[in-house]
Amino acid sequence: MAVSGAVAWEAALVERLARVMPEAEARAYLPLVADIQALKRQHRAVVVAHNYQVPAITAGIADFTGDSLAMARYAARADADTIVVCGVRFMAETAKVLNYGRRVLAPAPEAGCSLADAITAADVRRLREQYPGVPVVAYVNTTAEVKAEVDACCTSGNAVEVVRALGSPRVILVPDRYLAAFVAARVDCEVITWPGACEVHERFTAADIRPFRERGVCVMAHPECPPEVQTAADFVGSTAAMIGYLEARRPERVLLLTECSMADNITVAHPELKFERPCNLCRHMKQVTLESVRDALRDLAPCVEIGPDTARRARAPLERMLAA
Ligand code: 13P
Ligand code: SF4
Repeated sequence: MAVSGAVAWEAALVERLARVMPEAEARAYLPLVADIQALKRQHRAVVVAHNYQVPAITAGIADFTGDSLAMARYAARADADTIVVCGVRFMAETAKVLNYGRRVLAPAPEAGCSLADAITAADVRRLREQYPGVPVVAYVNTTAEVKAEVDACCTSGNAVEVVRALGSPRVILVPDRYLAAFVAARVDCEVITWPGACEVHERFTAADIRPFRERGVCVMAHPECPPEVQTAADFVGSTAAMIGYLEARRPERVLLLTECSMADNITVAHPELKFERPCNLCRHMKQVTLESVRDALRDLAPCVEIGPDTARRARAPLERMLAA
């Protein structure tokens, strides 16, 4: 018997979500997903999600899911009236700066990031006074005001390339001291940094890894992890780089030292891969829910607002990031 289009998408989504949750839970999401899809059509909206969003969002409603770099690229080119950013505030701000004429909705506008909170625009101005003439690179995990003060932005996916492209003997890279250590080990120049850290990744320790390595588990770490964790891992890279590595190598068992939804999202796409725990939750990322996305699309709020002068000054460093 032929199934209607509506039934077909529902069955396909339940089948995918049931790879990481009970089928009854997957079914319970369907009415909200249908409401959000209808609101997206009504408002000519697209949903862009980070890899740390839950599968109900990434598989259920996102038009695009990726790392911070891919999200920024997608948002910059999005030909939609409204861009809904399922991620934390700096990601929504980045989308707004790169596609200023569009309405950008942040379903959880209070969703922060310990890195973005670690440094202010005034701190960057003081660093410039302390190190005259030294170019400043800001991790994309910063506020628009900080981005407006720097020469280039980067993500964990292209920090090495951005720093190398500056061709300077000294570079200031803020605010993540662990990402800076990752970059410093891969470039020829001196990297000056700032004492910021991700509250999720800094909790991993080398001791967490040892028993897994002994059992032959492939251990992958994000560059926001402490250096001893990076050294003990088989692979270090951005969330997109981790997915690329797994798709190419297909190790039997994997430990991802990053946010917990990463393993769930990869399992939805590749149920044959088997993930070990531990992982850590990002309380900020988890503030975005299907309900908050539905409400944002219904009310067309909260919108991301950035003053035109800040947006103009933040745009050039972000474009350098996209070009690297
Ligand atoms: P990615 O750029 O690897 O997606 O990382 C962003 C982030 O916030 C990691 O904590
Ligand atoms: Fe920020 Fe860390 Fe959460 Fe990423 S995981 S958003 S860096 S607090």
